[in-house]
Amino acid sequence: MDFKKKMLAEKAKLIIDGKTYELPILESSYGEKVIDISSLRSRTGCVTLDYGFMNTGSCASAITYLDGEKGILNYRGYAIETLADECSFVEVSYLLINGCLPTENELRNFKMMMNKYALMHEDMIHFFDRFPPGSPPMSILSSTVNALSVFYPEMIDNPLEQIDKMAARLLSKVRTVAAFSYKKSLGQPLTYPRPDYSYCANFLNMMFDLPVAPYEVDPVIVNALDKLLILHADHEQNCSTATVRLVGSAQVNLYASISAGISALWGALHGGANQAVMEMLERIYLEGGDYKKYIEKAKDPDDSFRLFGFGHRVYKSHDPRSRILKNLCDEVLHTLNRSDPLLDLAKEIEEVALHDDYFVKRNLYPNVDFYSGIIYKAIGIPNDMFTVMFALGRLPGWIAQWKEMWDDENWRIGRPRQLYIGPKQRRFVPIGARNVCDEKYS
Ligand code: ACO
Repeated sequence: MDFKKKMLAEKAKLIIDGKTYELPILESSYGEKVIDISSLRSRTGCVTLDYGFMNTGSCASAITYLDGEKGILNYRGYAIETLADECSFVEVSYLLINGCLPTENELRNFKMMMNKYALMHEDMIHFFDRFPPGSPPMSILSSTVNALSVFYPEMIDNPLEQIDKMAARLLSKVRTVAAFSYKKSLGQPLTYPRPDYSYCANFLNMMFDLPVAPYEVDPVIVNALDKLLILHADHEQNCSTATVRLVGSAQVNLYASISAGISALWGALHGGANQAVMEMLERIYLEGGDYKKYIEKAKDPDDSFRLFGFGHRVYKSHDPRSRILKNLCDEVLHTLNRSDPLLDLAKEIEEVALHDDYFVKRNLYPNVDFYSGIIYKAIGIPNDMFTVMFALGRLPGWIAQWKEMWDDENWRIGRPRQLYIGPKQRRFVPIGARNVCDEKYS
């Protein structure tokens, strides 16, 4: 599918030093206006300043649409709610990467390719032995994905011709790496992937199967994992995706670009928040459940504590993923006939925060990370693997965005500008004559 950018007849007017400049306005598929400032510096000598890229688009994309005010999230034009109900994670991955839902035949071929590439090079398996005990799984994941480019260098010459192969390889291998890193952290023997299992069943089996206690695949858990991964599969130009694009824009290969995205996702303000939420809930619970104390801490301007799992750069109303996850949480615990006091605690915190002036005024709602950890816990995944699970889910989105960038005729190396506020020309002082750094050298 070929999507063209739509330019409006209307222009934005910018006045600098009394001179008026007209800037083109583009319109998104949903009618949002986007001022094109790409000619700003050459015409006016000015650049823009936008900390955290709050208002700055870096690309045109046909992959994911989200409306933060209305709480809408669509992949390739399909509502997230529909995809989570009707599709498997592998179908959604195909959709994101290729632009269309697969036919039965296309899906079969995609799965066959994933099975073909699921195994890891035996030399790569030695990597796991060399990481010290207690290494964070995100660090292992990022390093190992980067190393894939050394073991599978065929894509370097013509990446777009190899993209299907690379996508299948990444999707199946990252799943294997994630499970192996968990097994290694426990000192347990590795369980290899099985071609007769679905994507999620395979992952769960590699995580939990033991020679002395074979893992029994539970369809409720497989279904929950499928949904979780779908909900995380893409989220337009967030921190890790923007990182994948920025690194890839320098013509870095897909594996290394995704390894950089994994590192970005690791941060507690981004994907690492799912682990931080769980740790926060556990701490509150162990301290007797006084969550109001933590809500007060989060509101205190002199306290750096934040209510993890709340707030979002783009969503200024409910994050649709968090709504689905809250229901999924109830469903999974009910079907497995389990209860979790942390779920009750999370619901109480949500209820209080949603009616608290501080959170209301700042449009702070639960985000995707608020309930996901409770489901991961119910299906047996430990806290320090939560962000790895997020990375596994986000993988097709990163691949799709990287592919779209390589395919874009406007693609250029990413290179932001800045507002320089340092000293002007300084007098050079030879090393022997230097004193401590102070103003006299300026
Ligand atoms: N708890 C308490 N206060 C918060 C929270 C929170 N979770 N989130 C934002 N605020 C407050 C800020 O202190 C700020 O208040 P102020 O205006 O009085 O200074 C205001 O809300 C705006 O916050 P910013 O940090 O400017 O918003 P930004 O868009 O830059 O940050 C972010 C968004 C990073 C997600 C933020 O809401 C946050 O830190 N949340 C907690 C971490 C988290 O859950 N991250 C996961 C996000 S989803 C994802 O990445 C997958």
